[in-house]
Amino acid sequence: MLQVDQFESIPFLDGIQGNILKSHGRHHTANLFIIGDDGKQDLVKAWIHSLVVGTNPIIRSGSEQIHNNLRWKAEKVDSGVFACLHISAAGYKYLFGDQKVEDFEDEAFKLGMAHAPLNDPPADFWEEGLQQPHFMLLLAHASDDKVRALVVEIQKSIMFFTKIASVEKGHAIFNNMGAGIEHFGYVDGISQPLFFDDEWERYRADNEITSDDDIKFDPRANHDLVLVPDPFFQDENAKGSYFVFRKLEQNVKGFKQAEEALAFQIGLEGEDEERAGAMLVGRFEGGTPVQESPTDSMVNQSVFNNFDFTRGDASKCPFHSHIRKTNPRSDLPAGEAAKRRMARRGIPFGHRNDDPDDGMIDNKPEGGVGLLFMSYQASIVNQFQFIQQSWANNPTFPNFNDADPDGLDLIIGQGGPKYPVTWGEPNFRPATFGQFVHMKGGEYFFSPSMRFLREIQEI
Ligand code: HEM
Repeated sequence: MLQVDQFESIPFLDGIQGNILKSHGRHHTANLFIIGDDGKQDLVKAWIHSLVVGTNPIIRSGSEQIHNNLRWKAEKVDSGVFACLHISAAGYKYLFGDQKVEDFEDEAFKLGMAHAPLNDPPADFWEEGLQQPHFMLLLAHASDDKVRALVVEIQKSIMFFTKIASVEKGHAIFNNMGAGIEHFGYVDGISQPLFFDDEWERYRADNEITSDDDIKFDPRANHDLVLVPDPFFQDENAKGSYFVFRKLEQNVKGFKQAEEALAFQIGLEGEDEERAGAMLVGRFEGGTPVQESPTDSMVNQSVFNNFDFTRGDASKCPFHSHIRKTNPRSDLPAGEAAKRRMARRGIPFGHRNDDPDDGMIDNKPEGGVGLLFMSYQASIVNQFQFIQQSWANNPTFPNFNDADPDGLDLIIGQGGPKYPVTWGEPNFRPATFGQFVHMKGGEYFFSPSMRFLREIQEI
């Protein structure tokens, strides 16, 4: 584990961008999808350089982020804007030509999300602004007004050499208990790999762990779960991380109706009715894992994570529930699920006029809201893409019973049948039916080292 109070003596923290090992934690973000103009590479490089050096650098290193977090905790000093930059394979090609992209090891990154084997809708159906971006600049602040002002400022400063294809805005939303939720109303962001000792201490306290015998699920992780060498340098302190962005629209009304219909079909009534939704997600709305309790009643429910599944038994938490599909814990031999974990950094998008926590269905949005899913990992092939393709989209995982498959992940599973588009010709398109999360576009990126950002003009 990395020791927070020793952060100044961990040299690689200076060399990575913030947000990878710890979330930036701001409640408002704007994700700018940017495409560089042909022939303007020098101007683009100068702009990227200015984000880390000069009069007003906005990109923070991992160690600056920790320094600022500690100041916030001790003195309540707000460090203001946070930014980090991500570059796609198309972006590296634009800046340096095709050859340099070959230095990256991750094949999924090199191909891009549009060519990923994920059963997604074809890329030409994605939102236009999310197709083939070169860069994604994430801006974050406690105040939405500040984020807006910053977007305008950036737009003005780069308009002569780039096109901003899309601005995706994210806003944290909360339930009545003050816990961060996603749009279906479930507490999110509970289960994360933990890299720092202060996070582990908090986990021990939240989960009432007093000795090693109490540990049922161990979230501790080494930083190499998400960090790899930046291929541009032979420098052990210049590290980066592969980054996934996926815009997932949520039909909240449809989902809530389906939850109700499911409860009716299987005969759950009264306080048991809530368990229908819990069996889709694996947790109740408040966070209580359905593996641990038949009702949403656990103390510390919005932080509780110290549980495992009973191997081979789906009588409490079904195999197809979202958290069992995406982190099967003890369903797999020790270490097998742990090596797939990602640092999830998603944030909800879209505004709603209803109270997500009011228990009503008719007033819920059918579109325009969702999750900007984001994650950091050392390998897209082995982490995000593996989880989505081989687990979430695989009807026989994790029970491996081909004769009686448990089905896709009902939250994010992509894998409807393919339909012929041209009658009589082998021109098929996948389409999904009865699904309440819709993929609107996305990309694979690399979050380069601070050294790359500083020295980009000399490369
Ligand atoms: C709109 C889309 C999504 C929704 C509504 C959603 C919702 C949730 C919720 C409510 C949780 C439980 C809270 C927690 O344990 O942190 C969760 C956990 C998780 N989700 Fe998602 N999620 C979505 C997309 C995705 C995607 C695309 C992936 C990756 C392929 C993913 C991977 C995970 C993982 C790994 C966990 C933690 C499981 C664990 O360790 O127990 N999610 N999600």
